[in-house]
Amino acid sequence: MKYNYRGMTIYVEKDYAAMSAAAAAMLLQEVRENPSAVLGLATGSTPIGMYQAVVKAYEKGEADFSKVVSYNLDEYYPIQHDNDQSYHYFMKENLFKHINILPENTHVPSGESKDVEKTAAEYDAELYQIGGVDLQVLGIGNNGHIGFNEPGVVFAKGTGLVDLTQSTIEANSRFFAAIEDVPKKAVSMGIATIMQAKKIMLMASGQGKAGIIAQTIFGEITPAVPASALQLHRNVTFFLDEAAAAEILPLLK
Ligand code: PGA
Repeated sequence: MKYNYRGMTIYVEKDYAAMSAAAAAMLLQEVRENPSAVLGLATGSTPIGMYQAVVKAYEKGEADFSKVVSYNLDEYYPIQHDNDQSYHYFMKENLFKHINILPENTHVPSGESKDVEKTAAEYDAELYQIGGVDLQVLGIGNNGHIGFNEPGVVFAKGTGLVDLTQSTIEANSRFFAAIEDVPKKAVSMGIATIMQAKKIMLMASGQGKAGIIAQTIFGEITPAVPASALQLHRNVTFFLDEAAAAEILPLLK
């Protein structure tokens, strides 16, 4: 089902597979319409199904990424890029090595940089120079973070070093052998960087996200819920499964 609320488009799909397919369709359409699209990409468990659907489409000859450019949202800090917990590694394994995107056209914030603030500022400058992101893919944290913009008292502007909150460290510890192994910091695109994308799509799946999705779409616009900033964007599309949409469905109907 497709809904519209205050200019935001909201797709509610039956389950994770249907949500992933719908999100993949939007990404593939962007690349078809604009073969040299700049994609803003996300990691986490949520987009994995979408990336699988994109890879399938590529294998069937339905998509060409030879001119596509990508900029990822975030990376742990510090982390070696060949570490299997790094987002460099995640992107290679889940998407880049399966499609014909050129390695030199893919960008993920550096987790290895000795001067993080400098490389982060360069990341934004580079993005600005090429005209910004055409389509930004987002997941959402249980605490409302997008990228690693954690709840706070202000919206972060540009890409920079951030402290992860305890709730994010706990949520992400499922991927690590021990919670102590989860990095305490990350480099993340800022809210302003994200909001400069021409189009934004946010994916969420499962009952655990239902509350934060309701706050994101219907709540106050506040840095306490970083994703609520999306209410100010002119072209945002949510891809939800029924479980993640449980709290908003009664408000949409
Ligand atoms: P998840 O993470 O997709 O693994 O739930 C989302 C996020 O933290 O942004």
